[in-house]
Formats: sequence, C-alpha cells, structure tokens
Amino acid sequence: MATYTTDQRQLFTGSTIAVLKPATTEQVADIVRLAAHRGIGIVPQGGNTSYCGGATPDTSGRQIIVSLERMDRIREVDPVSMSISVDAGAILKNVQNAAANAGLLLPLSLGAEGSCRIGGNIGTNAGGLSVVRYGMTRDLLLGIEAVLSDGTVVSDMRKLRKNNTGYDIKQCFAGSEGTLGIVTGAVLRLAPLPTRRASAWLKLASGAPLAELLALVRRESADLLTTFEFMTARSIALATEAMTNPPSVRAGSGGTVLAEFASSSRHVGLDELMEAVLAEAIEAGWIEDAFLAQSESQRTAMWQLREAIPEGEKRRNGSVKHDISVPLSSIQRFLDLAASQVRSYDADLELSVYGHAGDGNLHYNVLVPPDVDRTEFTKRIESGLSLQLYDTAAALGGTFSAEHGVGRFKKHLLERYGDVGRIAAMRRIKKAFDPAGIMNPGAIVRPWRKEPAS
Ligand code: FAD
Ligand code: MLT
Ligand code: ZN
Repeated sequence: MATYTTDQRQLFTGSTIAVLKPATTEQVADIVRLAAHRGIGIVPQGGNTSYCGGATPDTSGRQIIVSLERMDRIREVDPVSMSISVDAGAILKNVQNAAANAGLLLPLSLGAEGSCRIGGNIGTNAGGLSVVRYGMTRDLLLGIEAVLSDGTVVSDMRKLRKNNTGYDIKQCFAGSEGTLGIVTGAVLRLAPLPTRRASAWLKLASGAPLAELLALVRRESADLLTTFEFMTARSIALATEAMTNPPSVRAGSGGTVLAEFASSSRHVGLDELMEAVLAEAIEAGWIEDAFLAQSESQRTAMWQLREAIPEGEKRRNGSVKHDISVPLSSIQRFLDLAASQVRSYDADLELSVYGHAGDGNLHYNVLVPPDVDRTEFTKRIESGLSLQLYDTAAALGGTFSAEHGVGRFKKHLLERYGDVGRIAAMRRIKKAFDPAGIMNPGAIVRPWRKEPAS
C-alpha cells in the first residue's frame, strides 16, 4: 500500500486500515455508511499528485483510503451543451482527450494531467496553465455527484449554466480536499477547441513590469491569451537538465514569459497578432527579444520545458515550495521584496522562481542543496524564511496557497493568515457536512477547536 500512504513528494507517510477501490457510487455510499458506523476516518484519493498531504492518511491507523481509480468512466460528452460528464476517478488527460474527440476543449491543464484525477482536481480546485483565460477548476464545474458523510448521495449532474435555486452545493466541494464528502462524478464546462495557436518565448528585460506587459498582451490580443507563464533562468536550467532533448532557448535578463494565444476561428491571424504585440513590447523596452514557435514541434518543446521544471527541482534534491499569489498590481513588488528577504536570510540559497504570472501566482521555490538532508533543510526554511515570504505576500494582499491547497501541511498557515470570521465559517460548514468528523480528519481545518469570541 506504500504508494497510497505516502504523498508524491515523499514528505509524509501515514498508515491505513485498508485501501478501498469502489467501482460505483453505491459502493462509495456503502463504504461511507460502514465507516460512519465504526467511526473510521476516510481519506479520499485520486491520483495522489497533490502537494499539501491532503490525500495521505495520518499515522493513527484509524483511517481508510478510498481510491476513486476504478471509477474512471467518461459518462457523456454533449457537444451542443458543451459539457462533459465523468466519473470522479477519470484521469484528467483522458477527459481532455474525450472532449477533443468531440471537437471541444476541457480547459484545465497542468503538469500532472497524465495522473491526476477529476475528483482530486475538484478537491484541490486545481489551477494550472490556462487559468488566465478559463479560470480555476471551480469555474468549469457545472454539476456534481457526491457522497456525504452519512452515505447520502447528492445527485446534481446537470449541465446548466444558470441555476439559482438556493445554495450552490457543488461549489462547496471545490477546494474542500475531501473534508466534506467524496465526489463521485462531475459535469464540466467545455470550450471551443482551438485550431490555431501562437506561442512565444519572451525574453524579458531586467525589471520588466510583468503586470503592464500582461495588460498589453491581453488587450492587444483581444483577450485571446490563454497562457502567461513566467520562468527565471535558474528554473529553465533545471528543466533543461531534466530533459533528454531540451530546446536551445535562453532566458532574458529579467526572466522569460511563455505566452500563448489560441483561437478556434480560422479567420484570426494569430501569428500576425502575436508579432504586432511583441513589437509593441520591444518598443516599450519590456522585452529584449522574442521567439515565436514556427512549428508544432517547437511549440511542444517550449511547453515541455515549462512542464519539466518541477521534475528538474526533484532531480536536484527537491525544493521548499511557496505557492504564493498576490494581486497582479503587486507582483513586481513581491519579487523585489522577496529577493531581498532571501539575500538577508542566507545569501547562498538558490531559488527556482516561476509560475502562472498571468494569475499573480508564483512558485517561489527554495532549492534544497544537493548535499543536505531534505527534511532537515525543509524544516529550517519553513520555520524561518517561508514565514517571511508568506508575511510579505499577506502584506500585499496575497495568499500562502494559490492553487495547491492546505491539506495537512499548511493548516498552521491557514490559522496564521486566515481571517477569523472566515475560519469560523469554514468550521461551521465542516460541522454541518460532517458532524462526526470522519471525512479526511486532520485536513484543512481543526473543526472542533473553540471559535474565538468576536
Ligand atoms: P489527490 O492528490 O489524490 O487528492 C488531492 C485532495 O483532494 C486530497 O485532499 C484528497 O483527499 C481530495 N480528493 C481526491 N479525490 C477526491 C474525491 N473524489 N472527492 C473528494 N475529495 C477528493 N496543481 C495545480 O493546481 N496547478 C498546477 O500547475 C500543478 N502542476 C503540477 C505539476 C506536477 C508535476 C505535479 C506532480 C503536481 C502539480 N499540481 C498542480 C498539483 C496536483 O496535480 C493537483 O493538486 C491535482 O489537482 C491533484 O489531483 P489528484 O487526483 O492527484 O488528487
Ligand atoms: C507547476 O505549476 O508546475 C506546479 O504547480 C508547481 C510545482 O509542481 O512545483
Ligand atoms: Zn503551478
């Protein structure tokens, strides 16, 4: 059971009574009823690719893992309603492919798409590489099927774009990390499948204003921008080391942006549009140079490079990850303040900074030196520098977790940075959905703690 009881970064190993693999929603409901009767905790698990330990049981030996991996059917693609209905255990890549076969796009894309599953994407409210155009997982959620903590089945697999009939229950599950129930099915919104793409590698000038550049690119592309990914030279070098055939691209002195326009229309000249936008950005002095992919293989190579960064970090000896986001207007300020915090904390530390700059989301990762103990190093950074970086993000109106969630690893951060009223509301939701506290105990909130008097 080792692959189920350890998180994918191997930071934490728990124990479990059993790994259960139901094949139907009825079986999930049976399992939940039995667990409720025995007071056993349930940890729902999808692809086990998440970063905050939410899919890993604790060490009590009083929890079961419910893996959705056998529930992987594509139930229906509806090209007219532009929706897809799936089992929660369907692998993201397979859902993308099923949509593409019907000429449509499931606009959720992330490096782990070959192994993460829709229930896990909903559980973490995953973001990824095309949020700037299409939003997070919750923005794609039209309908849900889920089993509540007493075995009740919520069956709301409708394809409606509009349905104002009381509380939006499906949205409670987005980002709930298995603490409110087990998602067994979902209806997701699809978009027209892009038939044309223009992908460019923008070498940024030193101190280039990312937010202004983004605004220019969005405006002048008529909002056809789907991706605006920032990468520093160090992150690119790490990715290059992890690839067998890396493209020979370099970063600018201020880093690089991978920008992509996409359109389903045959009537839009995307390359011309991209060239005009890049010329304006060069004229403004924000980019030193740019490279527009001339073929699908060049485009794929750029993407592979971006997606190889986490693997590059892992190969080196891993990283202490900081998945911060700040308002776009403060992104440059965060980069400046954080760089000086790192310098004064320990000038020898190496960083891998990259991420979804179009969403104000940076992965501000501190590399673990090759020759040190990863656990010790992580503990040291997380109790010192990490808090300084999070304080900076918080002071700028940002967050300590933009897209990776809270899970088991970041609960203390939620308590440190979360608004008191918001946490109280979360505890009440948790109690209402899961009065016996059997759904993923120990993840996100400590539900039974007394609420502070206001
Ligand atoms: P799991 O890890 O199995 O579970 C995640 C959480 O959801 C757990 O709390 C679990 O209990 C709960 N859960 C799982 N299934 C269900 C269910 N059926 N019902 C209720 N709760 C459930 N994330 C991003 O947001 N953006 C990225 O760009 C990104 N890139 C990544 C790149 C790599 C290389 C890797 C390894 C990970 C990346 N991730 C990214 C993180 C991860 O892939 C996402 O968080 C993903 O959504 C997790 O899906 P999963 O199926 O693996 O979920
Ligand atoms: C990514 O954007 O690549 C991930 O969210 C961050 C990571 O894997 O470290
Ligand atoms: Zn990311």
